[in-house]
Amino acid sequence: MEVSRDMQIQAPKVPHLVILPIPFQGHINPMLQLATLLHSKGFSITIIHTDYNSPNPSNYPNFNFEPLPVGLSDGQVRTKDLVTILCILNDSCQAPFHDRLSRLLLDGPVTCIITDELFYFTKAVADQLKLPRILLGTSSATFATTMASLKLLRQNGLLSITVGPLYKFSPGSSNSLLTQDYSCMAWLDKQAQQTVIYVSFGSSASFDKRDVVEIAWGLANSNQPFLWVVRPGSIHGHDWVELPKGFEEKTREKGHIVKWAPQQEVLAHPSVGGFWTHNGWNSTLESICEGVPMLCCPYLLDQNVHARYVSHVWRVGMQLENGFDRSEIEWAVRKLMVEIEGKEMRECVGALKENAMRCMAKGGSSYESLESLIHLIMSL
Ligand code: UDX
Repeated sequence: MEVSRDMQIQAPKVPHLVILPIPFQGHINPMLQLATLLHSKGFSITIIHTDYNSPNPSNYPNFNFEPLPVGLSDGQVRTKDLVTILCILNDSCQAPFHDRLSRLLLDGPVTCIITDELFYFTKAVADQLKLPRILLGTSSATFATTMASLKLLRQNGLLSITVGPLYKFSPGSSNSLLTQDYSCMAWLDKQAQQTVIYVSFGSSASFDKRDVVEIAWGLANSNQPFLWVVRPGSIHGHDWVELPKGFEEKTREKGHIVKWAPQQEVLAHPSVGGFWTHNGWNSTLESICEGVPMLCCPYLLDQNVHARYVSHVWRVGMQLENGFDRSEIEWAVRKLMVEIEGKEMRECVGALKENAMRCMAKGGSSYESLESLIHLIMSL
């Protein structure tokens, strides 16, 4: 638990704690256990909670509960993508939390806020209202130590493993486990420059049949040329999936579907102007190195971090936030491929590509790291 000590406040007679859990089971449990413990020691407790995954007040008759409307859409909830939901909550909770807390302060003093360490937006609110804030980390102490040591490892030059993008250093080699269908290259040759959106979700992401129907109609309705990789086995419970009735007729002129593509060549093709990706690191790197902006749809783990960097930090793509919905897909594909936002992302990714190329050239950081690695191996 971390306590920020820089705030001096007048302690209320009955110490009053405002507790804000994040709405995930493994975080709600320890936070409410801590609240129960503190209540037994004489503290008065107010739980401010999101209206998504709310705790049941009748289980805690001694606490005051204050719901926080956060406006998560059904689509966002349906994604069950915890990292995305957490990012959205951190963006959307600040104003309502500030309002709710300000109103509580009108009724009497608050001793401090106790919140989950992953609700980082609370720092701004605590600072504005001059309230101390205590963070509860719900993971193990070992995890906290590991995270803390990352900075130290970097400072001491022990995290310098940046020798990529390896596929650019070793062009032409293919280790594809699936047969790459080169028919798409001839199809790409017939398309106009930077008009095609390439759609592929890597080697392990899988979907419901409903998602595929939404993807199909979203692509068809966007009216943009597309090359779509539908990997066998990527639809839950089906070796292959029948695409919706009428889809093939509607997209015959615009679309091409393969089971597996020569992705690096596809991304390097001048007709490709966008990549709808799950943001596996290979796909993300390949897209950047070929200067192709992305529509991000992370599936799990590191892909969520990559998608966030692509969309919010490097600004070379945008994230589909609400799962698979045909109207949102149509809107997002058009934005990426033909609207000004897509043009800006294309410019940003062009600059990032140039940067990557500089890093790989003689004297660049990646080139030098590779040289150091070779020296290190030779010295063993
Ligand atoms: C996994 C994880 O999902 C990813 O998050 C992690 O960073 C690496 O391991 P995967 O899901 O397969 O990988 O995605 P990705 O990292 O993008 O790798 C896919 C590779 O397959 C890429 O190199 C891509 O060029 C290749 N590919 C993909 C093809 O050759 N053809 C295709 O049709 C699709």
